[in-house]
Amino acid sequence: MRLIQHKKEAYWFYRYLSIFYDKLVNPLFWTKRMRDEALELGQLGQPGVRVIDVGSGTGFTTEGIVRHVPAERVTCVDQSPHQMARAKKKEALRGCTFQLGDAENIPFGTDEFDRYVSAGSIEYWPNPQQGINEGYRVIKPGGIALMIGPLEPVNGIARFMANTWMLFPKEEEYLHWFREAGFQDIKMRYVKPHWVNGRGEYGIAISGVKPAAGLSPAAGRTEGAETAQEMTTGRWLQLAGRVLIGSLAGFIFIPAALFGYIRSAFGGQTDVPEEYRERLNGYQLAALVVIILIIGLVISVVV
Ligand SMILES: C[S@@+](CC[C@H](N)C(=O)[O-])C[C@H]1O[C@@H](n2cnc3c(N)ncnc32)[C@H](O)[C@@H]1O
Repeated sequence: MRLIQHKKEAYWFYRYLSIFYDKLVNPLFWTKRMRDEALELGQLGQPGVRVIDVGSGTGFTTEGIVRHVPAERVTCVDQSPHQMARAKKKEALRGCTFQLGDAENIPFGTDEFDRYVSAGSIEYWPNPQQGINEGYRVIKPGGIALMIGPLEPVNGIARFMANTWMLFPKEEEYLHWFREAGFQDIKMRYVKPHWVNGRGEYGIAISGVKPAAGLSPAAGRTEGAETAQEMTTGRWLQLAGRVLIGSLAGFIFIPAALFGYIRSAFGGQTDVPEEYRERLNGYQLAALVVIILIIGLVISVVV
């Protein structure tokens, strides 16, 4: 179903989610430790590299990138002006270049950057192969593209909710898209927050090296591409329905994560450096209290 795996739907989803994205949602699912472990595959420490961060959002991953690369050498691309406005306010990202644009049609030239990074954005792309081909196109020969994204949950209920919400690819799909795009020396590693302890893996970082200059050998294959649609009343209603139901399916994961924190509160993280300890902040604690109150209310009405 993947209700928010469409550009316009993703735009409106982030129109409101950007308000509480950094404070409430993102730190539950995409933590500093995951980010920094994943970025290791991008080999950002090499001197003089120019990096493009696609689907850069509020700049959480970009903040990890600028730990290795001067902000002046980092370019951020996102289709959401609301997400980007928040990234622009971050002190560490002051020197970055910001450009609104589409991951499937990146507004930069061929062979321009040394590194391509995209974290947590592929879930919204109608044609992921096209997006990865674009990652290939914009980097120089010998450059590295690094994609970070979620994996399809093993648990049946979680898988149903995830697939209703957006794209949760399988590991083999990431691998297939990277190979098709023409990448070589492909490497992968799994990432997850401390509270995830179920079956299966949670998220993946996959990197590949561009072997030769120019476009991806798979460029121009438009299978699955989204065509521009006129915004009729019907289309607006469809969009509103998709954003509403898709958001509800996605928000189920918030209480799941908050309760995961409680479950794992008394164990784990002892060997984790202070900087990477994952703790609930005030907004998340408030959300947890509200959720517990709602559950209590529902139980008292039903019983
Ligand atoms: C989950 S956020 C990830 C943000 C950031 N990379 C991070 O690590 O926090 C996904 C971002 O992808 C952006 N996005 C979704 N579809 C896009 C597209 N087709 N082109 C560019 N950006 C897109 C959204 O606007 C959103 O800011």
